[in-house]
Amino acid sequence: MQRVFSGIQPSGVPTLGNYLGAIRNWVPMQDTHEAIFCVVDQHAITQWQDPRELTRQTRDMAAALLACGLDPARCTLFVQSHVHAHTRLAWIFNCVARIGWLNRMTQFKDKAGKDRDNAGAGLYVYPNLMAADIHAYHATRVPVGEDQKQHLELANDIAEKFNHDYGAEFFPHIDPHIMGVAARVMSLRDGTKKMSKSDPSDQSRINLSDDADTISLKIRRAKTDPEPLPSEMQGLENRPEARNLVGILAAVTDATPEEVLRQHGGQGFGTFKGILADALTAHLAPIAAETRRLLDDPGAVDALLRRGAERARAIAEPIVAKAEELVGFLPPR
Ligand code: TYM
Repeated sequence: MQRVFSGIQPSGVPTLGNYLGAIRNWVPMQDTHEAIFCVVDQHAITQWQDPRELTRQTRDMAAALLACGLDPARCTLFVQSHVHAHTRLAWIFNCVARIGWLNRMTQFKDKAGKDRDNAGAGLYVYPNLMAADIHAYHATRVPVGEDQKQHLELANDIAEKFNHDYGAEFFPHIDPHIMGVAARVMSLRDGTKKMSKSDPSDQSRINLSDDADTISLKIRRAKTDPEPLPSEMQGLENRPEARNLVGILAAVTDATPEEVLRQHGGQGFGTFKGILADALTAHLAPIAAETRRLLDDPGAVDALLRRGAERARAIAEPIVAKAEELVGFLPPR
């Protein structure tokens, strides 16, 4: 069975973007692949996180993933910092990756902003840790949203250079798995920016924990243009906000954007937004309720994560030990 790996940062509550672009695609893979999913707390601290919040958000993220349908009986779910193999391999990759490659990463440029000298060094080498997350398991399939594509290409470059430098066909090629209409869900306030957990405006995103009233308010306030919806896709050109809302309704109702337009073309946004808010609430309310139920017993969530880490360690340890041997490190025993 092909091995799948993916990760999510606990830097906030998961958004509709995380859900439609990634998490929702992880769920069916539990039955068709050997599936490994990770809450990547070490990635999260590449930007400042309040320590107590980080602890809570890590557990909350795990509970949300379980509520979305990840099942510890059918997948391995764990926290990145619990499995030290990731950072051991990341160090080797820091030495394999070229500075020129990292300089091309658009996410670093976006996140570091103008004052690059003041960005953390961890933010810069973040893609090397992400490559290590995947390669520590010899995973070959990685389901992610569109924004992670460049990082996965880098992970392949790193694997190729490692294999070349150390004369071994050791790390396999990764196949990015970027799915469907919602691979890039955009901000509700600006249809040219992606929806993000870290956007300072909570109005820009739907959180998986939002209740019906909050969802309805955020959708009602979402930026749109004055034209009614078109009945064909060409009519969405240069209308990023309209395109985004159509894509969201398509994703949550398992329709194509073309079908949504056929059904709702000609409607004004007043009506369409009401329909969208209802569809979102129907889809997300059970997830929010299940997350709350799971968090009533935080000890049980922590125990699941501990067991997940044991399973993850059993896979990653021998792979990373072998990589260290290839590099020439004297075996510790
Ligand atoms: P993160 O935490 O930013 O996002 C988790 C997943 O959600 C997807 N995503 C989106 N998809 C569609 N529309 C959006 N607006 C949107 N926002 C986020 C992301 O593409 C991602 O799949 N670097 C990763 C975490 C990571 C990882 C890994 C992923 C660390 N190691 C190894 C795969 C394999 C990240 O920051 O994701």
